[in-house]
Amino acid sequence: MGLSVAMCCNAFLLVLLVVFSSWISCGEGSVSYDSKSISINGRRKILISGSIHYPRSTPEMWPDLIQKAKEGGVDVIQTYVFWNGHEPEPGKYYFEGRYDLVKFIKLVQEAGLYVHLRIGPYACAEWNFGGFPVWLKYVPGISFRTDNGPFKAAMQKFTTKIVNMMKSEKLYETQGGPIILSQIENEYGPMEYELGEPGRAYTEWAAKMAVDLGTGVPWVMCKQDDAPDPIINTCNGFYCDYFSPNKAYKPKMWTEAWTGWFTEFGGPVPYRPVEDLAFSVAKFIQKGGSYINYYMYHGGTNFGRTAGGPFIATSYDYDAPLDEYGLLRQPKWGHLKDLHRAIKLCEPALVSADPTVTSLGNNQEAHVFKSKSGACAAFLANYDQHSFAKVSFGNMHYNLPPWSISILPDCKNTVYNTARIGAQSAQMKMTPVSKGFSWESYNEETASHDDNSFTMVGLVEQINTTRDNTDYLWYTTDVKIDPSEGFMRGGKWPVLTVLSAGHALHVFINGQLSGTAYGSLEDPRLTFSEGVNLKAGVNQIALLSIAVGLPNVGPHFETWKAGVLGPVSLSGLNEGKRDLTWQKWSYKVGLRGESLSLHSLSGSSSVEWVEGTYVSERQPLTWYKTTFNAPEGDEPLALDMNSMSKGQVWINGQSIGRYWNQYKASGDCVPCNYAGWFNEKKCLGNCGEASQRWYHVPRSWLYPTGNLLVVFEEWGGNPYEISLVKREVASVCADIFEWQPTLVNWQMLASGEVNKPLRPKAHLSCASGQKISSIKFASFGTPEGVCGDFRQGSCHAFHSYDVFERYCVGQQSCTVPVTPEIFGGDPCPNIMKKLFVEAVCS
Ligand code: GAL
Repeated sequence: MGLSVAMCCNAFLLVLLVVFSSWISCGEGSVSYDSKSISINGRRKILISGSIHYPRSTPEMWPDLIQKAKEGGVDVIQTYVFWNGHEPEPGKYYFEGRYDLVKFIKLVQEAGLYVHLRIGPYACAEWNFGGFPVWLKYVPGISFRTDNGPFKAAMQKFTTKIVNMMKSEKLYETQGGPIILSQIENEYGPMEYELGEPGRAYTEWAAKMAVDLGTGVPWVMCKQDDAPDPIINTCNGFYCDYFSPNKAYKPKMWTEAWTGWFTEFGGPVPYRPVEDLAFSVAKFIQKGGSYINYYMYHGGTNFGRTAGGPFIATSYDYDAPLDEYGLLRQPKWGHLKDLHRAIKLCEPALVSADPTVTSLGNNQEAHVFKSKSGACAAFLANYDQHSFAKVSFGNMHYNLPPWSISILPDCKNTVYNTARIGAQSAQMKMTPVSKGFSWESYNEETASHDDNSFTMVGLVEQINTTRDNTDYLWYTTDVKIDPSEGFMRGGKWPVLTVLSAGHALHVFINGQLSGTAYGSLEDPRLTFSEGVNLKAGVNQIALLSIAVGLPNVGPHFETWKAGVLGPVSLSGLNEGKRDLTWQKWSYKVGLRGESLSLHSLSGSSSVEWVEGTYVSERQPLTWYKTTFNAPEGDEPLALDMNSMSKGQVWINGQSIGRYWNQYKASGDCVPCNYAGWFNEKKCLGNCGEASQRWYHVPRSWLYPTGNLLVVFEEWGGNPYEISLVKREVASVCADIFEWQPTLVNWQMLASGEVNKPLRPKAHLSCASGQKISSIKFASFGTPEGVCGDFRQGSCHAFHSYDVFERYCVGQQSCTVPVTPEIFGGDPCPNIMKKLFVEAVCS
């Protein structure tokens, strides 16, 4: 009896639930979770997400970036909210331009994607001060990211402001909007561990504060093992398959799958092979993961002074699937797109069953998901870093490349292998479109005096003094040299020693640049210690101390100091060493050119510039300006700054960021194999070159004619070699095995045709607006090399070129089946052949 009542109630509940869910599915939705996944409107989902930070591109770029993410198989766009961009002064908010958060979210919604909003408000993100406004540091009694009243009040105020804004714009999924998830704090676990009890109290408070805001969608805390219920703790890293959430009823989520790594000035440019990235994602999914976010999907640019660190480069390219300029990075984008398709084919099985794991060999495993309704998906993994593995699975044999996972959405057919790239690769080029600008110059004064100047005994801390309104702080003092000094009669110059907490320093003696010193991301401190040319009488020592972005990570990074804290001394005098630390110093915040706003149209016309032969070249502290017309076309643009040393650039008054071409990338750029554990030091480029040569100039910042380009050079460079370049696809390549055992063949799978060896097809496609103009290389046989540098091997089908010339030249894209017949017959029977082709785009 009792049982039937329960059954009847259950049935009634079920009806109610159906009615209710059909009601909520039209418009407002619901977001919930269980051990398997996030559910939207009651449906469990495997979600692919990608980070795009809105201020790291322009509103004009957003629709295209979002569209390309969607085409790449992304369901969710994840972004931090950048507090310092939104509240530049206490209580004064800014949500325009690149900071138009609502517009960004609505564009994501229009594209039919979801949003994961990481409100933080601490971001980290290699962003200046980790996203905190600098004024926050000066709130009386404040201590960041701990159980501290003033901090919690400020954090709550800003978080509430953002949540209310989202609510009033109806942007939460429960209101019919795209936001399905939020994040409070960021990687607080390690910090909490260091702080102990106040850290734990702060975590509890932050979690409750967030949940009480009633967004209707789940919150996550990343890298926070003790995230209080109902908050989901999530994983960040290069691999996250080992991770389990802190409760059995929470889904396994990966909020930051690092697609590459950031570049620092002075460091090489890191990259991550897509085979390893795809392997790590497949490994996460096969272990029951259901949400993965690529950090970054589009990294973009640290415009202005938004880069953190210190020493973070202006480019935040991150080796992401969309490059800094918003172009497809191939084969990364395409190989991940294929991966996402393969995962989605497995979705019915993935969301309804737990995997059964069986061993297929010493270093090989099968993860099989079988649902009650008959869906079956299998992941066959070979963890061996060096060898292929032949494995048997369900009466069939599979050949697995080293360090790879094959995906079988029907438990029979391999549609994807993480180490077998079907997508085309592309070579990019930077083509000069304007150079030989006619420059005018203006000399910045060494340590001028104005309203921002003051004098005092001793040395000051830089950030407390500038409040980070500028990178620059002048420290100036006088040194009297007696004519009787020994060094004046042919001895060695006295040595000036300056200890600075960072980040860079130019030393001027009597107005002349005497030397430079700088730190690095690892250790921002520096010591200048060089002989200086002093004359008898009064000498001016002017130290230009430069901050290169504020720290964004580390325990109480808000307390880290910058600038010349001393001691400062002069040695090699008759008296021995003279301590200058405690004498009278004059200070000037910022440059004269900054207070005159020389970067802007109005400011730049307020002073006399010199032209023609009078233009200073290779002179420190020089402002340059010129005008130029926007090049035709819509390819992304950049400035090639390789002839310059260090400074900042503006276009039409907007800062494109700091440049530092003089800081060469030191590191070991040895060839890197995708197989084996990856870390950010494994695969590096640019060693010995500038860490960053090109600086993105957003198209939308340009007028058709008369664009004002202003450069401030601190150190000395040749502006006549600066050029504006466009970025475009130079060529595209395919690199395919004749029998791709692991080929993506969706049609065949759909038609139920199974177990047949699959013949691959070569797909080549230039960017829109381009055509394939010639075939640079084609060989069906045993070719060698990498895209851009292919070579014929001992076996080569003589008609290799003909076919591509016929099918592809003159087309924007083409598809050629890889069969011996099409290339005029088999050039070397019984040998496994490959096709390599490179097509030039123009
Ligand atoms: C993570 C952090 C991100 C970013 C990343 C490195 O630990 O959460 O904000 O800083 O490291 O790019």
